[in-house]
Amino acid sequence: MKNIIIAPSMLSANFANLNTDIEMVNKSQADWFHIDVMDGMFVPNISFGPVVIKHIQKYAKKPLDVHLMIMDPDRYFEEFKVCGAEYLTIHYEACTHLHRSVQRIKSLGMKAGVALNPHTPVHLLTDIIGDLDMVLIMSVNPGFGGQSFIPQALRKITELRAMTENRNPDCIIEVDGGVGPNNIQKLIKAGANAFVAGNSVFASENPMETIALMKQ
Ligand code: DX5
Ligand code: ZN
Repeated sequence: MKNIIIAPSMLSANFANLNTDIEMVNKSQADWFHIDVMDGMFVPNISFGPVVIKHIQKYAKKPLDVHLMIMDPDRYFEEFKVCGAEYLTIHYEACTHLHRSVQRIKSLGMKAGVALNPHTPVHLLTDIIGDLDMVLIMSVNPGFGGQSFIPQALRKITELRAMTENRNPDCIIEVDGGVGPNNIQKLIKAGANAFVAGNSVFASENPMETIALMKQ
């Protein structure tokens, strides 16, 4: 079985006391920090950008998994490299020249991920899957934390795992949206191996225990 990666989404952290939540993730069994960047155009919400991520980078002791929900993300690749992104994920729907964008992310020394919105079929990645370090299956419409898991994501993960087994067996399959201890097992069975969890971690009574439970 593939190594399971847990990536708490800092979108659900307490931004008035961010350091406490960063330390919690540092001490927990989580593997990455998931960082959601929203521009108010690609998604109907605005979150934060490089200025805030630079501060997270100072205290975070685990890799930053940066999820760009922004139009034409190429404009900012260098900036995200400077603020410490190890994984940089862009949306299929936000890029006209996806192949060029993926190559640029990799040439800057970051791992490249591509995210698919719930309506975007997996087969559209056929001609680029071999170039990707990660595919992010959105199991909610991006923009907000705390939404309900969309069940069709399961079938997409199964289809994507079959595609990666043939063409890129090391490709990470990450799921984002409505993920928590209640559905992680099903998602692992379908073939996912990285799990973003915002609300299920930060709104739980004991976030460290919830992370540990998911890790099991
Ligand atoms: C949604 C973001 C997610 C979000 C997940 O647009 O990409 O990373 O923070 O939050 P939960 O786990 O609460 O659905
Ligand atoms: Zn995300």
